[in-house]
Amino acid sequence: MKQHLFLIGFMGSGKSTVGKHLAELQNHPFLDTDLLIEERIQQNLKDFILESGEISFRLLEREVLKEVIDSQQKSVVATGGGLPCFEENTKLLLENGILVFIDTPEEVLFNRLLNDDSRPLIENLNETELKKYISVKLAERRPFYEQASIKISGDKSINEICSEIQDKLELLMS
Ligand code: S3P
Repeated sequence: MKQHLFLIGFMGSGKSTVGKHLAELQNHPFLDTDLLIEERIQQNLKDFILESGEISFRLLEREVLKEVIDSQQKSVVATGGGLPCFEENTKLLLENGILVFIDTPEEVLFNRLLNDDSRPLIENLNETELKKYISVKLAERRPFYEQASIKISGDKSINEICSEIQDKLELLMS
């Protein structure tokens, strides 16, 4: 059975960076749902969400997820932070791959996201609001993220994270 590797976790947790590296190590294609959406709409994701709203984005996100699942090759897939947090998506992810949750501490997320102007959902938040947003959203999303069979702390180097994922994958497959 084709089993994709889905990286899940909050914005700024390191999914794309880890995903690219892991895909190279495993010799599988790397896919990023946010980039696939951008390719499809031929527009920057931030502009799209600001213009068309989050609901339109979530619909596209689900369509792209279905396409990824149907793709022929087993891939390492970095997913948008909110993607697993919708019932049908979680089901699709669990049925079609192995989920890896990169669990990055809130302070690290805060420092990474503080001066980030590429993510529309946190645009215009001041420091206090951003801290609260991370804390509230992460608590809300954690039950979805926790369904992953592999959980890795994101507060490490990329090499360490990837080698831990590979070890855990081997254990899981044995
Ligand atoms: C989102 C996370 C983003 C992107 C969109 C919405 C979210 O992806 O999908 O801005 O709801 O957390 P990253 O997790 O790659 O930043």
